[in-house]
Amino acid sequence: MQSNRSVSEQTDLIEYILKQIPSSLSVLYKQKLYEKGQFSFKSTLIKGDQALKPFAIKENNLVYEVQLMNKLDVGVYLDAASFRKWLLQDAHKLRVLNLFSYTCTLAVAAMKGGAQDVINVDSSRSALEIGKNNFRLNNLPINPRSFSKIRVHDFLKFAIKKKDLYDLIIIDPSPPPSSCKSTIEKFQYYQKIIIKCLPLLKPKSKLIVSSHQSIPEDDKNLHSLVLKEFPALSVIDQIPYPENYSAKTTKYYIYTYIPGTISEA
Ligand SMILES: C[S@@+](CC[C@H](N)C(=O)[O-])C[C@H]1O[C@@H](n2cnc3c(N)ncnc32)[C@H](O)[C@@H]1O
Repeated sequence: MQSNRSVSEQTDLIEYILKQIPSSLSVLYKQKLYEKGQFSFKSTLIKGDQALKPFAIKENNLVYEVQLMNKLDVGVYLDAASFRKWLLQDAHKLRVLNLFSYTCTLAVAAMKGGAQDVINVDSSRSALEIGKNNFRLNNLPINPRSFSKIRVHDFLKFAIKKKDLYDLIIIDPSPPPSSCKSTIEKFQYYQKIIIKCLPLLKPKSKLIVSSHQSIPEDDKNLHSLVLKEFPALSVIDQIPYPENYSAKTTKYYIYTYIPGTISEA
């Protein structure tokens, strides 16, 4: 996927790609465009027609559905590959809450890693339907109650009322909107969600929060604010970047929750 290239740059790029790939493959050229403060996307079929239909990709022996044509996002985020690997290895016996679950690829990895249960929460019905299909593709049982089409803040309100408890909560939303300019505004975007997650965490459980800052200093400041404003959270680790993935903007911080401090107030 490329953004705002000149026509000659695009032609060179397409020629280069066509030379590199086997002749039997289809090629879809997908551009992310930014005009007048708005993102849009454009798909151009260069060769073949396989890319028009949904298909499955394989990662760590798990299978995920990909749809290249319909939307900007295709169903699987490659920058979450090492997070899925981490869940495969570390989610054993955990009760997991997967907020902003999208197509539930993190849930598939957690379930295959032996999680007791994963609750997926997303406001998009179509993303959750692909999520169910990802469960089917991996021979995982589908419990309709594990796919919740609801806004995250509403889900958390109900879950607090029901006194739900989890061993691991994942907060992986889209990056803060462009109206959040300062680090404080970006922090407040996450703060509203983290505050509602704390009552749902068991003592010594984990909270994983994604951050998508392109400037490393912004990322560091944001992370420091989380630790300062939530003393009940301490960072234990960061999930490494996927191998062969050069865009190092997405980070996943693993926090551990030790209750009994004033941060829940
Ligand atoms: C960046 S994607 C999440 C990626 C996902 N965690 C993964 O690893 O594949 C963001 C998702 O958040 C969902 N979303 C956005 N705002 C939401 C809200 N207020 N409540 C629930 N879901 C929301 C979107 O529908 C989208 O599926």
